[in-house]
Amino acid sequence: LAAAGVESPVSDARLLLEAAAGASRADILAEPRRPLSGEQEALLEAYLARRETREPVSRILGVRGFWKLMLRVNADVLSPRPESETILDAVLPWFEVGAAFTVLDLGVGSGALLLAMLAERPAARGLGVDVSEEALAVARDNAAHLGLAVRAAFLRTDWTSGLADHGFDLVVANPPYIPSSVIAGLAPEVRDHDPRLALDGGLDGLAAYRELAPQIMRVLKAGARFALEFGPGQASPVAELMAAAGAVEIKVVKDLGDRDRVLTGSKKALG
Ligand SMILES: C[S@@+](CC[C@H](N)C(=O)[O-])C[C@H]1O[C@@H](n2cnc3c(N)ncnc32)[C@H](O)[C@@H]1O
Repeated sequence: LAAAGVESPVSDARLLLEAAAGASRADILAEPRRPLSGEQEALLEAYLARRETREPVSRILGVRGFWKLMLRVNADVLSPRPESETILDAVLPWFEVGAAFTVLDLGVGSGALLLAMLAERPAARGLGVDVSEEALAVARDNAAHLGLAVRAAFLRTDWTSGLADHGFDLVVANPPYIPSSVIAGLAPEVRDHDPRLALDGGLDGLAAYRELAPQIMRVLKAGARFALEFGPGQASPVAELMAAAGAVEIKVVKDLGDRDRVLTGSKKALG
């Protein structure tokens, strides 16, 4: 895997071995010399061959851990990234565990943000929208297998099109933000395996935020808050777009790698 240019060959090999052997990390630590059956060995070889072509582990296994959830993923959704957990770190303290509120996830993809939110806040309800019907099918499947379907609704629409004004207590979004010209130079795992619709932020990477800024302010209730992920160098332009749309209390939150990652803010309270 290292020879194939894989960034984290040791941990990837471990994950593929665990899956092929049907064993947990603890099983392997407890019994490191267990033999693989012929079937398991063939499966491991097949997994490794795919990983050598730079297919991501999440796509080979069809699952990806995010927050405390195990999500199903396929070619129709972005494999959720640990950096996006910054949104959850930022917004969860705003709502007590038993708080009943409504959350809108714009560009829901696999359901990662919405479902992690609903799992943490058992009285919350949410709506996830996406333009991709195929992505919504994945999000619905994840909501069902995680037992969250009764509190999650999904809708195919272009951002907030068709949604009522002032409907939500919280809006979260991880929109596509990579400048179009940068995509060809990304690692094959991203470039060839994440959907273009989930990556491409137009000429300067900010196309989605220009559309989203006024729309987020429209669908938030007075006094309600939002959290938006963005990419490298985008903190100021995204903050300016949100401020121009009327957002207040704007703050930039860093991810665990100490990079600016999420913009939070709110809509002015009434009176
Ligand atoms: C970067 S992915 C984020 C997926 C998921 N929220 C996550 O954090 O893992 C962006 C998502 O926005 C969706 N999207 C792109 N343009 C859209 C639009 N105009 N309206 C609604 N969703 C859109 C894509 O299909 C994709 O699922």
